[in-house]
Amino acid sequence: MFLSHLDLWRSYLECVSRPYTVFVCSITAALYYLWGRKCQAPALVCSEALSAFLQEHCPAVAERFSPTPWCWGGRLQTLVCSVLKSRPHVTYRNELLRTDDGGQISLDWVDNQASAAHPESSTRPTVLILPGLAGNSKQPYVLHAISQATRRGYRCVVFNNRGAAGEELLTPVTYCAANTSDLERVVGHIKGLYPQAPVLGAGVSMGGMLLLNYLARKRTESGLVAGFTISVPWDATKSSVSMEEPLNWLLFNKYLTTILCGLITRHRKVLEKVVDVDHVLTAQTVREFDERFTSLVFGYKSCMDYYHDASPDKKLPNTAVPILCLNAADDPFSPQYAFPLTIVQGLPNVALLLTAHGGHIAFMQGLFPRGENYMDRLFGQFVQAVFEHPRDINKACGIEEEQMT
Ligand SMILES: *[C@@H]1O[C@H](CO)[C@@H](O)[C@H](O)[C@H]1NC(C)=O
Repeated sequence: MFLSHLDLWRSYLECVSRPYTVFVCSITAALYYLWGRKCQAPALVCSEALSAFLQEHCPAVAERFSPTPWCWGGRLQTLVCSVLKSRPHVTYRNELLRTDDGGQISLDWVDNQASAAHPESSTRPTVLILPGLAGNSKQPYVLHAISQATRRGYRCVVFNNRGAAGEELLTPVTYCAANTSDLERVVGHIKGLYPQAPVLGAGVSMGGMLLLNYLARKRTESGLVAGFTISVPWDATKSSVSMEEPLNWLLFNKYLTTILCGLITRHRKVLEKVVDVDHVLTAQTVREFDERFTSLVFGYKSCMDYYHDASPDKKLPNTAVPILCLNAADDPFSPQYAFPLTIVQGLPNVALLLTAHGGHIAFMQGLFPRGENYMDRLFGQFVQAVFEHPRDINKACGIEEEQMT
Protein backbone atom coordinates (compact mmCIF):
# COMPACT_ATOMS: atom_id res chain seq x y z
CA MET A 1 0.00 0.00 0.00
CA PHE A 2 1.22 3.44 -0.87
CA LEU A 3 1.16 6.19 1.75
CA SER A 4 1.85 9.78 0.81
CA HIS A 5 3.85 12.03 3.11
CA LEU A 6 0.64 13.73 4.10
CA ASP A 7 -0.96 10.46 5.15
CA LEU A 8 2.09 9.60 7.17
CA TRP A 9 2.00 12.91 8.96
CA ARG A 10 -1.70 12.56 9.62
CA SER A 11 -1.38 9.11 11.13
CA TYR A 12 1.63 10.29 13.14
CA LEU A 13 -0.31 13.27 14.52
CA GLU A 14 -3.29 11.07 15.30
CA CYS A 15 -1.07 8.70 17.17
CA VAL A 16 0.75 11.28 19.31
CA SER A 17 -2.50 13.04 20.17
CA ARG A 18 -4.14 9.93 21.51
CA PRO A 19 -4.57 10.09 25.26
CA TYR A 20 -2.60 6.94 26.02
CA THR A 21 0.35 8.09 23.92
CA VAL A 22 0.38 11.39 25.80
CA PHE A 23 0.11 9.45 29.05
CA VAL A 24 2.95 7.06 28.25
CA CYS A 25 5.20 9.90 27.08
CA SER A 26 4.49 11.95 30.20
CA ILE A 27 5.23 9.02 32.49
CA THR A 28 8.48 8.32 30.61
CA ALA A 29 9.53 11.96 30.81
CA ALA A 30 8.68 12.10 34.52
CA LEU A 31 10.64 8.91 35.23
CA TYR A 32 13.59 10.22 33.26
CA TYR A 33 13.45 13.47 35.22
CA LEU A 34 13.24 11.65 38.55
CA TRP A 35 16.11 9.41 37.46
CA GLY A 36 18.23 12.49 36.88
CA ARG A 37 17.23 13.91 40.27
CA LYS A 38 18.13 10.68 42.01
CA CYS A 39 21.67 10.79 40.67
CA GLN A 40 23.94 12.87 42.78
CA ALA A 41 26.82 15.11 41.98
CA PRO A 42 30.09 13.18 42.18
CA ALA A 43 32.11 13.34 45.40
CA LEU A 44 35.18 15.55 45.08
CA VAL A 45 37.89 14.60 47.55
CA CYS A 46 40.62 17.25 47.75
CA SER A 47 41.75 20.39 49.56
CA GLU A 48 39.43 23.39 49.71
CA ALA A 49 41.70 25.48 47.51
CA LEU A 50 41.91 22.83 44.77
CA SER A 51 38.16 22.25 45.03
CA ALA A 52 37.51 25.98 44.51
CA PHE A 53 39.81 26.03 41.48
CA LEU A 54 38.13 22.99 39.93
CA GLN A 55 34.59 24.28 40.57
CA GLU A 56 35.51 27.46 38.74
CA HIS A 57 37.47 26.13 35.76
CA CYS A 58 36.19 22.58 35.49
CA PRO A 59 32.43 22.80 36.14
CA ALA A 60 31.85 19.12 35.32
CA VAL A 61 33.15 18.24 38.81
CA ALA A 62 29.97 19.69 40.31
CA GLU A 63 27.62 18.38 37.63
CA ARG A 64 25.12 15.72 38.54
CA PHE A 65 26.20 12.57 36.72
CA SER A 66 23.19 10.55 35.58
CA PRO A 67 24.16 7.42 33.70
CA THR A 68 22.24 6.22 30.66
CA PRO A 69 18.98 4.98 32.24
CA TRP A 70 18.67 1.80 30.19
CA CYS A 71 22.24 0.91 30.91
CA TRP A 72 22.18 0.07 34.58
CA GLY A 73 25.20 -1.06 36.57
CA GLY A 74 28.94 -0.82 36.17
CA ARG A 75 29.31 -4.04 34.21
CA LEU A 76 26.67 -3.12 31.66
CA GLN A 77 28.08 0.41 31.27
CA THR A 78 31.52 -1.06 30.65
CA LEU A 79 30.29 -3.60 28.10
CA VAL A 80 27.89 -1.35 26.22
CA CYS A 81 30.37 1.51 26.05
CA SER A 82 33.02 -0.67 24.46
CA VAL A 83 30.55 -1.63 21.73
CA LEU A 84 28.60 1.59 21.21
CA LYS A 85 31.07 4.41 21.59
CA SER A 86 31.72 6.34 18.40
CA ARG A 87 35.16 6.74 16.86
CA PRO A 88 35.95 10.32 15.91
CA HIS A 89 38.19 10.53 12.88
CA VAL A 90 41.82 11.16 13.82
CA THR A 91 44.86 11.17 11.52
CA TYR A 92 48.10 10.26 13.24
CA ARG A 93 51.71 10.84 12.36
CA ASN A 94 53.60 7.81 13.59
CA GLU A 95 57.09 7.99 15.03
CA LEU A 96 59.21 5.05 16.13
CA LEU A 97 61.44 5.97 19.03
CA ARG A 98 64.49 3.85 19.82
CA THR A 99 65.29 2.89 23.40
CA ASP A 100 68.60 2.16 25.15
CA ASP A 101 67.94 -1.58 25.26
CA GLY A 102 67.64 -1.71 21.44
CA GLY A 103 63.85 -1.72 21.45
CA GLN A 104 61.39 0.74 19.95
CA ILE A 105 58.34 2.66 21.10
CA SER A 106 55.53 3.65 18.75
CA LEU A 107 54.29 7.22 19.24
CA ASP A 108 51.20 8.54 17.46
CA TRP A 109 51.18 12.32 17.08
CA VAL A 110 48.43 14.78 16.27
CA ASP A 111 50.45 17.95 15.68
CA ASN A 112 47.46 20.26 15.24
CA GLN A 113 49.39 22.68 13.01
CA ALA A 114 46.13 24.47 12.23
CA SER A 115 45.68 25.40 15.91
CA ALA A 116 44.19 28.89 16.14
CA ALA A 117 44.63 29.19 19.90
CA HIS A 118 48.29 28.08 19.83
CA PRO A 119 49.69 28.68 16.32
CA GLU A 120 53.30 28.62 17.54
CA SER A 121 54.44 24.98 17.51
CA SER A 122 57.32 25.41 19.97
CA THR A 123 55.01 26.50 22.80
CA ARG A 124 51.85 24.63 21.87
CA PRO A 125 50.62 22.77 24.99
CA THR A 126 50.87 19.02 24.57
CA VAL A 127 48.78 16.19 25.98
CA LEU A 128 50.55 12.87 26.39
CA ILE A 129 47.99 10.04 26.39
CA LEU A 130 48.64 6.63 27.94
CA PRO A 131 46.10 3.93 26.91
CA GLY A 132 45.02 1.02 29.10
CA LEU A 133 46.26 -2.58 29.26
CA ALA A 134 46.43 -4.02 25.73
CA GLY A 135 45.11 -0.71 24.37
CA ASN A 136 46.61 1.63 21.78
CA SER A 137 45.91 4.85 19.93
CA LYS A 138 42.87 3.35 18.16
CA GLN A 139 40.76 3.00 21.32
CA PRO A 140 37.55 5.10 21.17
CA TYR A 141 38.37 6.78 24.49
CA VAL A 142 41.75 7.89 23.07
CA LEU A 143 40.09 9.26 19.93
CA HIS A 144 37.57 11.20 22.01
CA ALA A 145 40.30 12.60 24.27
CA ILE A 146 42.17 13.76 21.16
CA SER A 147 39.06 15.37 19.77
CA GLN A 148 38.61 17.29 23.06
CA ALA A 149 42.23 18.46 23.18
CA THR A 150 42.72 19.36 19.51
CA ARG A 151 39.55 21.42 19.30
CA ARG A 152 41.02 23.55 22.09
CA GLY A 153 44.20 24.04 20.09
CA TYR A 154 46.51 21.57 21.83
CA ARG A 155 48.90 18.96 20.43
CA CYS A 156 48.49 15.28 21.35
CA VAL A 157 50.79 12.32 21.40
CA VAL A 158 49.80 8.76 22.25
CA PHE A 159 52.39 6.56 23.95
CA ASN A 160 51.50 3.08 22.69
CA ASN A 161 52.51 0.23 24.95
CA ARG A 162 55.47 -1.60 23.44
CA GLY A 163 54.33 -4.20 20.95
CA ALA A 164 50.63 -3.26 21.21
CA ALA A 165 50.29 -0.91 18.22
CA GLY A 166 51.23 -3.19 15.35
CA GLU A 167 54.92 -2.30 15.44
CA GLU A 168 57.63 -4.92 15.66
CA LEU A 169 59.10 -5.95 18.97
CA LEU A 170 62.88 -5.67 18.57
CA THR A 171 63.78 -6.95 22.05
CA PRO A 172 61.98 -9.40 24.36
CA VAL A 173 60.56 -6.56 26.47
CA THR A 174 56.95 -5.41 26.42
CA TYR A 175 55.43 -3.20 29.12
CA CYS A 176 54.14 -3.23 32.65
CA ALA A 177 52.42 -0.79 35.01
CA ALA A 178 55.42 -0.44 37.31
CA ASN A 179 58.33 0.09 34.94
CA THR A 180 58.55 3.77 34.08
CA SER A 181 61.72 3.68 31.94
CA ASP A 182 59.87 3.89 28.61
CA LEU A 183 57.65 6.73 29.83
CA GLU A 184 60.74 8.58 31.01
CA ARG A 185 62.25 8.13 27.57
CA VAL A 186 59.06 9.42 25.91
CA VAL A 187 58.73 12.51 28.13
CA GLY A 188 62.42 13.27 27.62
CA HIS A 189 61.92 13.00 23.87
CA ILE A 190 58.91 15.34 23.85
CA LYS A 191 60.67 17.89 26.07
CA GLY A 192 63.71 17.66 23.79
CA LEU A 193 61.59 18.52 20.75
CA TYR A 194 59.55 21.27 22.44
CA PRO A 195 61.36 22.46 25.58
CA GLN A 196 58.96 25.35 26.03
CA ALA A 197 55.67 23.53 25.56
CA PRO A 198 53.93 22.41 28.76
CA VAL A 199 53.07 18.70 28.79
CA LEU A 200 50.13 17.13 30.63
CA GLY A 201 49.98 13.36 31.17
CA ALA A 202 46.62 11.59 30.83
CA GLY A 203 46.46 7.91 31.72
CA VAL A 204 43.55 5.53 31.31
CA SER A 205 43.28 2.44 33.54
CA MET A 206 46.72 0.77 33.45
CA GLY A 207 48.06 3.85 31.66
CA GLY A 208 46.96 5.79 34.74
CA MET A 209 48.89 3.44 37.04
CA LEU A 210 52.00 3.95 34.94
CA LEU A 211 51.53 7.72 34.92
CA LEU A 212 51.07 7.95 38.70
CA ASN A 213 54.03 5.64 39.33
CA TYR A 214 56.12 7.86 37.08
CA LEU A 215 54.97 11.10 38.75
CA ALA A 216 55.76 9.61 42.17
CA ARG A 217 59.19 8.42 41.10
CA LYS A 218 60.24 11.65 39.39
CA ARG A 219 58.60 14.05 41.86
CA THR A 220 59.46 17.63 40.81
CA GLU A 221 61.55 16.38 37.86
CA SER A 222 58.73 14.70 35.94
CA GLY A 223 58.73 17.19 33.05
CA LEU A 224 54.92 17.20 33.25
CA VAL A 225 52.77 20.10 34.46
CA ALA A 226 49.84 17.95 35.62
CA GLY A 227 48.28 14.49 35.55
CA PHE A 228 44.81 13.17 34.79
CA THR A 229 43.61 9.59 35.20
CA ILE A 230 40.42 7.74 34.31
CA SER A 231 39.35 4.50 36.03
CA VAL A 232 42.78 3.77 37.45
CA PRO A 233 43.13 0.56 39.50
CA TRP A 234 44.58 1.77 42.81
CA ASP A 235 45.67 -1.58 44.17
CA ALA A 236 46.62 -4.19 41.59
CA THR A 237 45.95 -7.15 43.91
CA LYS A 238 42.50 -5.92 44.94
CA SER A 239 41.72 -5.22 41.29
CA SER A 240 42.63 -8.72 40.23
CA VAL A 241 40.49 -10.17 43.05
CA SER A 242 37.55 -8.15 41.74
CA MET A 243 38.29 -9.17 38.15
CA GLU A 244 38.31 -12.82 39.21
CA GLU A 245 34.74 -12.76 40.52
CA PRO A 246 32.97 -15.28 38.27
CA LEU A 247 30.83 -12.80 36.33
CA ASN A 248 33.70 -10.33 35.89
CA TRP A 249 35.96 -13.14 34.78
CA LEU A 250 33.44 -14.26 32.21
CA LEU A 251 32.65 -10.78 30.89
CA PHE A 252 36.03 -9.06 30.99
CA ASN A 253 38.99 -10.96 32.39
CA LYS A 254 38.84 -13.85 29.96
CA TYR A 255 38.59 -11.48 26.99
CA LEU A 256 41.49 -9.30 28.17
CA THR A 257 43.62 -12.38 28.73
CA THR A 258 42.86 -13.52 25.18
CA ILE A 259 44.00 -10.16 23.80
CA LEU A 260 47.19 -10.26 25.88
CA CYS A 261 47.91 -13.80 24.70
CA GLY A 262 47.31 -12.63 21.12
CA LEU A 263 50.12 -10.11 21.56
CA ILE A 264 52.41 -12.86 22.80
CA THR A 265 51.58 -15.04 19.81
CA ARG A 266 52.27 -12.17 17.43
CA HIS A 267 55.70 -11.56 18.95
CA ARG A 268 56.40 -15.23 19.64
CA LYS A 269 59.76 -15.36 17.82
CA VAL A 270 61.31 -12.64 19.99
CA LEU A 271 59.63 -13.57 23.27
CA GLU A 272 60.51 -17.26 23.00
CA LYS A 273 64.06 -16.31 23.95
CA VAL A 274 63.04 -15.35 27.49
CA VAL A 275 59.78 -17.11 28.37
CA ASP A 276 58.01 -20.40 27.87
CA VAL A 277 55.46 -19.07 25.38
CA ASP A 278 53.23 -22.16 25.42
CA HIS A 279 52.96 -21.93 29.19
CA VAL A 280 52.06 -18.23 28.97
CA LEU A 281 49.34 -19.01 26.43
CA THR A 282 47.55 -21.31 28.88
CA ALA A 283 46.76 -18.33 31.14
CA GLN A 284 43.05 -17.99 31.89
CA THR A 285 43.21 -14.73 33.84
CA VAL A 286 45.22 -11.53 33.70
CA ARG A 287 46.85 -12.53 36.98
CA GLU A 288 48.00 -15.86 35.50
CA PHE A 289 49.31 -13.94 32.51
CA ASP A 290 51.25 -11.62 34.80
CA GLU A 291 52.57 -14.61 36.78
CA ARG A 292 53.79 -16.39 33.66
CA PHE A 293 54.90 -13.41 31.65
CA THR A 294 54.95 -9.80 32.89
CA SER A 295 56.57 -10.39 36.28
CA LEU A 296 59.22 -12.66 34.71
CA VAL A 297 60.12 -10.27 31.90
CA PHE A 298 60.53 -7.39 34.33
CA GLY A 299 62.55 -9.35 36.84
CA TYR A 300 60.12 -9.64 39.76
CA LYS A 301 60.44 -12.50 42.24
CA SER A 302 56.69 -13.04 42.08
CA CYS A 303 53.51 -11.62 40.65
CA MET A 304 52.66 -10.35 44.15
CA ASP A 305 55.89 -8.35 44.13
CA TYR A 306 54.98 -6.92 40.76
CA TYR A 307 51.45 -6.02 41.87
CA HIS A 308 52.79 -4.36 44.99
CA ASP A 309 55.23 -2.30 42.94
CA ALA A 310 52.59 -1.41 40.34
CA SER A 311 49.95 -0.11 42.78
CA PRO A 312 49.94 3.69 42.78
CA ASP A 313 47.82 4.32 45.91
CA LYS A 314 50.55 4.60 48.55
CA LYS A 315 52.91 6.46 46.24
CA LEU A 316 50.61 9.44 45.76
CA PRO A 317 52.32 11.46 48.55
CA ASN A 318 55.49 11.53 46.41
CA THR A 319 53.80 13.27 43.50
CA ALA A 320 54.45 16.99 43.05
CA VAL A 321 52.09 18.24 40.32
CA PRO A 322 48.31 18.81 40.21
CA ILE A 323 46.50 15.53 39.59
CA LEU A 324 42.81 14.81 38.97
CA CYS A 325 41.58 11.21 39.12
CA LEU A 326 38.11 10.08 38.00
CA ASN A 327 36.76 6.75 39.29
CA ALA A 328 33.31 5.15 39.47
CA ALA A 329 32.18 3.27 42.57
CA ASP A 330 30.75 0.48 40.40
CA ASP A 331 33.91 -0.11 38.35
CA PRO A 332 34.43 -3.90 38.06
CA PHE A 333 38.18 -3.41 37.47
CA SER A 334 38.90 -0.89 40.21
CA PRO A 335 36.90 -1.71 43.36
CA GLN A 336 35.66 1.13 45.50
CA TYR A 337 37.16 -0.25 48.73
CA ALA A 338 40.63 0.32 47.27
CA PHE A 339 40.14 4.05 46.58
CA PRO A 340 42.86 5.94 48.53
CA LEU A 341 40.48 8.38 50.26
CA THR A 342 42.50 8.88 53.44
CA ILE A 343 45.75 9.37 51.57
CA VAL A 344 44.26 11.94 49.19
CA GLN A 345 42.60 13.86 52.03
CA GLY A 346 46.06 14.75 53.33
CA LEU A 347 47.47 15.85 49.96
CA PRO A 348 47.28 19.41 48.58
CA ASN A 349 47.90 18.46 44.93
CA VAL A 350 45.61 15.47 44.29
CA ALA A 351 41.85 15.44 43.68
CA LEU A 352 39.73 12.29 43.51
CA LEU A 353 36.44 12.64 41.68
CA LEU A 354 34.12 9.74 42.47
CA THR A 355 30.82 8.99 40.76
CA ALA A 356 28.34 6.40 42.00
CA HIS A 357 27.94 4.94 38.50
CA GLY A 358 30.01 4.88 35.36
CA GLY A 359 31.74 1.49 35.25
CA HIS A 360 35.24 1.14 33.78
CA ILE A 361 36.16 3.83 31.24
CA ALA A 362 32.46 4.26 30.38
CA PHE A 363 30.63 7.15 32.13
CA MET A 364 27.84 7.11 29.53
CA GLN A 365 25.06 9.68 29.75
CA GLY A 366 21.87 10.34 27.82
CA LEU A 367 19.57 7.98 25.95
CA PHE A 368 21.87 7.51 22.95
CA PRO A 369 25.33 7.43 24.50
CA ARG A 370 27.53 7.20 21.44
CA GLY A 371 29.30 10.53 21.45
CA GLU A 372 31.04 12.72 23.99
CA ASN A 373 30.28 11.62 27.54
CA TYR A 374 31.09 12.68 31.09
CA MET A 375 34.72 11.58 31.16
CA ASP A 376 35.48 13.19 27.79
CA ARG A 377 33.96 16.50 28.88
CA LEU A 378 35.77 16.43 32.23
CA PHE A 379 39.06 15.67 30.46
CA GLY A 380 38.60 18.59 28.05
CA GLN A 381 37.78 21.03 30.84
CA PHE A 382 40.67 19.90 33.04
CA VAL A 383 43.22 20.06 30.25
CA GLN A 384 42.10 23.57 29.41
CA ALA A 385 42.12 24.60 33.09
CA VAL A 386 45.71 23.37 33.48
CA PHE A 387 47.06 24.96 30.30
CA GLU A 388 45.21 28.28 30.52
CA HIS A 389 45.52 28.88 34.28
CA PRO A 390 48.88 27.36 35.28
CA ARG A 391 49.60 29.80 38.09
CA ASP A 392 46.16 29.47 39.65
CA ILE A 393 46.18 25.69 39.70
CA ASN A 394 49.67 25.53 41.15
CA LYS A 395 48.73 28.04 43.81
CA ALA A 396 45.61 26.00 44.63
CA CYS A 397 47.87 22.94 45.03
CA GLY A 398 50.40 24.76 47.20
CA ILE A 399 53.12 24.38 44.55
CA GLU A 400 55.86 27.02 44.54
CA GLU A 401 56.78 28.58 41.19
CA GLU A 402 60.50 27.78 41.41
CA GLN A 403 59.68 24.15 42.08
CA MET A 404 58.28 23.80 38.58
CA THR A 405 60.30 22.28 35.80
C1 LIG B 1 62.54 -1.40 33.41
O1 LIG B 1 62.86 -2.62 32.82
C2 LIG B 1 64.11 -2.62 32.13
C3 LIG B 1 64.24 -3.96 31.42
O2 LIG B 1 63.89 -5.03 32.26
C4 LIG B 1 65.24 -2.35 33.13
O3 LIG B 1 66.48 -2.31 32.46
C5 LIG B 1 64.97 -1.03 33.82
O4 LIG B 1 65.93 -0.77 34.81
C6 LIG B 1 63.59 -0.99 34.44
N1 LIG B 1 63.31 0.35 34.91
C7 LIG B 1 62.73 0.63 36.07
C8 LIG B 1 62.52 2.07 36.36
O5 LIG B 1 62.38 -0.21 36.86
